[in-house]
Amino acid sequence: MSLHQALQSAIHLALLAVLFLSPLALAVPSPSHQHDTPSRTRTRLNTNWRFHRFPTNPDNLVYDIRPDHANLSADSLTILKPYILPAANAFIADPANHHPVPAGAGAAANSTSSVPFAQPAFDDTAWEQVTLPHDWAIAGPFYVGDNVPVGGGMGRLPIQGVGWYRRTLVVPGRSDGQQHYFLDVDGAMSYAAVWVNGILAGGWPYGYNSFRVDLTPFLRRDGEENVIALRVDNPVQSSRWYPGAGLYRNVWLTTVGDVHVPFSGTAVTTREVRREGAVVDLVVNVENRGEGRKKVEVVTEVYELDGKTGREGKKVAKFETAAVSLKGAEKKTVTASVAIRNPRLWGPWTSQKPNLYVAVSRLYVDNQVVDTYSTEFGVRSVVFDGNKGLFVNGERVRIQGVNQHHDLGALGAAFNYRAAERQLEILRDLGCNAIRMSHNPPAPELLELTDRMGFLVINEIFDSWELEKNPNDFHLIFADWSEPDLRSFIRRDRNHASVIAWSVGNEVGEQHTDEAGAVVAHRISAIAREEDPTRPITASMNFAKPDMPFPPNFDIISLNYQGEGIRDSPAYAGLEGIKTSPLYPAFHEAFPSKLIFSSETAAALSSRGVYLFPVTNYTSAPVTDTLPSGGGNATSHQVSAYELHTANFGSSPDKVFTTQDAHRPYVAGEFVWSGFDYLGEPTPYYSSRSSYFGIIDLAGFRKDRWYLYQSRWRPTLKSVHVLPHWSWGAERAGQVTPVHVFSAADEVEVWVNGVSQGRRRVGKEGGTNGTTTSSYRFRWDEVVYQPGEVRAVGYKGGREWARTVVKTAGEAAGLRLTADRERIEGDGDDLSFVTVEVVDKDGNVVPRADTGLAFSVEGPGEIAATDNGDATDMTSFVSRERKAFNGLALVVVRGKSGAKGKLTLKATGPGLNAAQLTLRVQ
Ligand code: GAL
Repeated sequence: MSLHQALQSAIHLALLAVLFLSPLALAVPSPSHQHDTPSRTRTRLNTNWRFHRFPTNPDNLVYDIRPDHANLSADSLTILKPYILPAANAFIADPANHHPVPAGAGAAANSTSSVPFAQPAFDDTAWEQVTLPHDWAIAGPFYVGDNVPVGGGMGRLPIQGVGWYRRTLVVPGRSDGQQHYFLDVDGAMSYAAVWVNGILAGGWPYGYNSFRVDLTPFLRRDGEENVIALRVDNPVQSSRWYPGAGLYRNVWLTTVGDVHVPFSGTAVTTREVRREGAVVDLVVNVENRGEGRKKVEVVTEVYELDGKTGREGKKVAKFETAAVSLKGAEKKTVTASVAIRNPRLWGPWTSQKPNLYVAVSRLYVDNQVVDTYSTEFGVRSVVFDGNKGLFVNGERVRIQGVNQHHDLGALGAAFNYRAAERQLEILRDLGCNAIRMSHNPPAPELLELTDRMGFLVINEIFDSWELEKNPNDFHLIFADWSEPDLRSFIRRDRNHASVIAWSVGNEVGEQHTDEAGAVVAHRISAIAREEDPTRPITASMNFAKPDMPFPPNFDIISLNYQGEGIRDSPAYAGLEGIKTSPLYPAFHEAFPSKLIFSSETAAALSSRGVYLFPVTNYTSAPVTDTLPSGGGNATSHQVSAYELHTANFGSSPDKVFTTQDAHRPYVAGEFVWSGFDYLGEPTPYYSSRSSYFGIIDLAGFRKDRWYLYQSRWRPTLKSVHVLPHWSWGAERAGQVTPVHVFSAADEVEVWVNGVSQGRRRVGKEGGTNGTTTSSYRFRWDEVVYQPGEVRAVGYKGGREWARTVVKTAGEAAGLRLTADRERIEGDGDDLSFVTVEVVDKDGNVVPRADTGLAFSVEGPGEIAATDNGDATDMTSFVSRERKAFNGLALVVVRGKSGAKGKLTLKATGPGLNAAQLTLRVQ
């Protein structure tokens, strides 16, 4: 080790020691693959924050005047915008459009420096102590009723107001004069502004994007205490779903030396991908923040990466060393290419393996390593064929996708790695191979997961452009921020193997404004193409037609609902609103060379385990609670899970499948609206808290629809699924209770109490009139309920293939607890999701049980949240008491940080045998 290296590592150790030993800071290694080296550290800055929420503006600061500021006096306000805008400059291509730094900015005397909560001396000891990621709204209480600040659309949770976060930070001395300190915020909801020692240092308005603040000029060194104060300001009426609130993603402290790779500073792409070899192109940005000229050598080696452990494996290639000379305060780019022989390709999980590589770039000055920067990537070829669909590594891959919002159910918007991984595991079990990030940049770790688990991703950034969907949404800042948000988003995510396309907008109003809208579409898609010439650009269209000026601006035709037609089938005839026949053929004819998929299909609605009678004769019908067979209940606000009902503009899965199959192979597949239920947008009952759209409910429990998709997406999985449950009370005895079966079998026979109801072929029989047959479900619509059992046997090629029995359950007698993982890490993050079932004395789930349950834990952990998937349940997600919903509840258990040992979860309910479960925290 040279003297210089020794010095560097001493500094590094000292820094880590300060971060670790100070009671004010704790470092946790990142799940992401970034090297900590003597010259670069990356430390989570998630602990020891003090937080306070002010429901109304406490400090007369505003980013800019918004519609929700009507009750503030404009004269008394301090506008932060001029101080924040320069943060955008790094992401604005034309220097003529760069924002000037206002006079006095960065100085203690600037106009914002008198902000009380930003002052180092401010006494925050009375504030709440919080650990990030933190969503201040998720604990509630829910707003119930009408005329509330936040209604059903945004999840009835207290997202609004100003939140201040403060913490101290101690860094080592300036002895080598080299360290630069950055605060990297993965996302802050919203209008973040950051003060360091009382001086406004930066910020970022759009709550879903990641941003960096340079702390260096404002920090005190040599062990002195610094105070970081971060303000977020979250408006009402700013979103069509639950946005979350506060510092809801990870926050990092990154340190580098003078010469380093800047934020999102590498780009890796692959070309000429074949089994025998592929070419990897690499761009490395290099920055010299020091004063003198530096000669820098960039050496990059490529290693195999184990997706499970994150460990580097075999070295497979080395780029030719690039040399660059940088003056003080100069940035340059080096490019290099290398061939990899017999690459292990990245491909989606159903038929391929998500193999990954990591490019480790080392920057040398005077033969000493001054920075090490890792870039994970995959080697894959993706071809978008207008006639034949999507090809990955030469194989046609049907898109079996879902839309996912960013919330994690009962955990809210606060990002949690395990909770996200669990969602993807459940989706993989479904046969899903693709995710559309609707409609905003995800947490960076979610893309690490999709890379490692092999999902294809449409990465989407905006739900609105210039034209508003809500008074306080992104349209307010679109003019200033569309370019910087888009560029920084693409730079952050461009190396992810899973990302196959960029979506720059969802159902934007500009579809409706002809040429004016097309101009905006053109500008936005051109920026995206400039940032990434290798991936197609798209925007989802629920209105634009093939002959309008909007669609030609995009490389992929992404249709929301228009592919299978909107309000065009018989049950929708009387509804108001746009009507569209299935538009796949018209779009294909107008854009024969462009890939087409449905970025949103279905918008089907249901409540898990709820069955309403009579059942509609239609294969697809809008939910209404004014018709007996309308699928909705005006009192309970639940929707029937026969899975035939939809939003007014939607189509049942059966109808979607029919149109998709009629237009194979040029339709590349679909993204279902939606994979999981999510917070907010509770169509059709806005008195509720969460959606009815999911294939999976908010708690992660499978609705019946799950089996309809699974039998289509995993047709070789032997399964027959029967609905409804067979545990009705005396009121149903003798009543027509249709039995539907979801299966990939080609014939199914059903018996009720041993009496055959007939053996049926899919789509051929079982309907009671011409509108009811579906090629995707088996129906026995005339079955009469008697307690006992329903048996179903599926056949393929005439031979028995799968079978199931559904029995009438007895009285609720006890509880059964099942953990998704029985061992969890004691790191304050890791979770076990425990399913609670109400069971009869024989262990059958009691499918209508709604018993009030109570939970407690003993040992090194806590209950992070509870849920049951009931969209109408207004019990706080942090409550330890929760009613079962149709027999099920969920308890999310978290291991305590730094703790180990046995943890016991206990569940009780009146009249039920208590149950307990032991988990190991390690
Ligand atoms: C679409 C929209 C989605 C969601 C869905 C269901 O129009 O893009 O964000 O709102 O409808 O209502």
